[in-house]
Amino acid sequence: MSASYELHGPVAVITLNNPPVNGLGHASRLAVAEGLERAQADAAVKAIVITGAGKAFSGGADIKEFGTPKALAEPNLLSLIRLVELCSKPVVAAIHSVCMGGGLELSLGCHYRVASAGANVALPEVKIGLLPGAGGTQRLPRVLGAETALNMIVSGDPVKSELLASLPGQKLFDKLIDGDLLAGAIAFATEVADKRPLPLVRELKVKHPNPDGYFQFARNTVGAMAKNFPAPLKCVDAVEASVKKKFEDGLAYERELFVGLMMTPECKALRHAFFAERAASKIADVPEDTPLRAINKVAIIGAGTMGGGIAMNFLSAGTPVVILEMKQDALDRGVATIRKNYEGQVKKGKLKPEKYEATMALLTTTLSYEAIGDADIVIEAVFEDMEVKKAVFEQLDKVMKPGAILASNTSTLDVNKIAAFTKRPQDVIGTHFFSPANVMKLLEVVRGEKTAKDVLATVMALGKKIKKTCVVSGVCDGFIGNRMIEQYSRQAGFLLEEGCTPAQVDKAVEKFGFAMGPFRMGDLAGNDVGWYIRKRRYVEKPNLRYSKTADLLCEMGRFGQKTGAGWYDYLPGKRDAIPSAVVEKMIEDHRKSAGITPRQISDDEIVHRLVFALVNEAARLLEEGIAQRASDIDMVYLTGYGFPLHRGGPMCYADTYGLYNVAQAMKRFAQNPNDDAEFWQPAPLLAQLVAEGKNFN
Ligand code: NAI
Repeated sequence: MSASYELHGPVAVITLNNPPVNGLGHASRLAVAEGLERAQADAAVKAIVITGAGKAFSGGADIKEFGTPKALAEPNLLSLIRLVELCSKPVVAAIHSVCMGGGLELSLGCHYRVASAGANVALPEVKIGLLPGAGGTQRLPRVLGAETALNMIVSGDPVKSELLASLPGQKLFDKLIDGDLLAGAIAFATEVADKRPLPLVRELKVKHPNPDGYFQFARNTVGAMAKNFPAPLKCVDAVEASVKKKFEDGLAYERELFVGLMMTPECKALRHAFFAERAASKIADVPEDTPLRAINKVAIIGAGTMGGGIAMNFLSAGTPVVILEMKQDALDRGVATIRKNYEGQVKKGKLKPEKYEATMALLTTTLSYEAIGDADIVIEAVFEDMEVKKAVFEQLDKVMKPGAILASNTSTLDVNKIAAFTKRPQDVIGTHFFSPANVMKLLEVVRGEKTAKDVLATVMALGKKIKKTCVVSGVCDGFIGNRMIEQYSRQAGFLLEEGCTPAQVDKAVEKFGFAMGPFRMGDLAGNDVGWYIRKRRYVEKPNLRYSKTADLLCEMGRFGQKTGAGWYDYLPGKRDAIPSAVVEKMIEDHRKSAGITPRQISDDEIVHRLVFALVNEAARLLEEGIAQRASDIDMVYLTGYGFPLHRGGPMCYADTYGLYNVAQAMKRFAQNPNDDAEFWQPAPLLAQLVAEGKNFN
């Protein structure tokens, strides 16, 4: 039953019941409409309360129905809200816990609203590229004033009910109820049962002393922040209509804007990302009810760049951490960095001083393996060297308690080999964090051949607990993200050889929407990292063509920001990338010695060679079963590599561009004598999708 109906004396109570958050799916809407009809037909009923069972009043539209005919089936949300408004008996919304999107819009159709403190109230549609489409932009300003309503609608962020109830002149809540909400709502409904006329939000006027000035100001501010997204500015237009137009005209205008946004690629990209995030946590052969191993203590080996950042994730989540190092000074340095990071948060007011102390109290350090044996999971983050990893895992095998999970943060090494250093390969897994590990959302969870299902399920759940986006990857060199980036980097190198400057490539890529182009990125991360990897990797592939410019750069000692020079020059203590004459000369000399005549290269070619290199390699990852689904690859790139969110990830972008067009572009790139024609053969999966007229997602 998606909504129940009960009588409490003269008050009928309709309770939404569609777990987890009482989404307003078709069955729920129908059940509410039926409840209203029944209550009106029953002479003994004097008033009606609408509330939600369990953990929410209502979280809004039912995401399971998104994009299906059911989402629009009558009574749609607009029709249902109209039924509530036209009900002959007073309808009271009893709001608690979560009241968002369509849930808030439904409550705004009710004659009265009562709430308990602590409820999260929001119109979050902007976060998926939309605006509230069932009157939210017209009714919320009528109860909260244009400015508060616009702030909520443009940000999509939740605001606590008690805060809203305390705003002077607010008409959102008629009463804040202490104690039992339902009892309070029934008492309130009984009080107002005979009051007529029934108050309607639509009949209120939105007053603003200077609407033209205010909305111009709002447009300027929102426009500057929203850059690649159309929805926030449309929210401003809609809220302005609530001030300037009659209610019905404003409602029609909101609808028009909503439908327009629905069709934009940005909205499609955001919805894609929203569903991709949810899909990523599902693993085909690991049931959702797989029993998890308890994780109450975490051990970390190595207090370097990654070890420290990884530790912070668990400390911040309230889990005790012990870090093991080879020498005391390495431990001291690691702990000092963790302290410095937390102190930065305290200074910015993001962390309370008491909380900081409590968090640090969860951290212990050791030089001895004996001290970590009782941890439930150990995460190794030592040097990227198989011999070092071998020594560590042999030790771990000896000291860790049975059932402990043994994880490696390796970014390139074979997790199956690492597992084979132990007598318990089923307990070994890869946890590939991204740097800085306390900030970056992505966690690639690397599933070894022998990794047990409950180990995988436990690590996925643990990742969620520390607020990471977890994506499962099979074992291969570079896993999902770095294996793809290798092809992207190769193209970036070819582009330099063929006539681009680093700044030209970066600019084109940044205009496309990437947070940073490949060369600025290299300077930030350290060009030496890739240099070492190429030295190791390309020994095995002597015939693989790649541009030597990056090696030449490293031979000049230009490792990037950390050495004060990389693809760009840097002034001491500054991070601004200044185009470098020395580097341009190096590239020119290299072109000459390789016999390449430079040419003008368009931004379109730059971007598409880089992005489609990602796509073609990704198609191979899908074929090989390294990645489970195309949308997982999009999540990796959105959360770990700064791929522009408004484009939905490389696979989503390729789908939008049209896979036929993508394959055609690859054929053109293959004609370029300086490029790798073999690489540009469309991956069989891509070719098959083109032939069948299908796409990735
Ligand atoms: P790092 O050099 O900053 O830290 C490594 C730490 O491990 C050092 O403090 C060292 O003293 C310690 N260590 C070395 N051998 C040890 C042993 N036998 N026992 C105990 N401690 C030992 O290195 P980083 O950057 O933190 O990398 C660690 C791992 O994370 C590597 O496998 C790397 O490939 C991987 N990784 C690195 C990323 C990065 O951006 N730096 C990103 C993702 C993964």
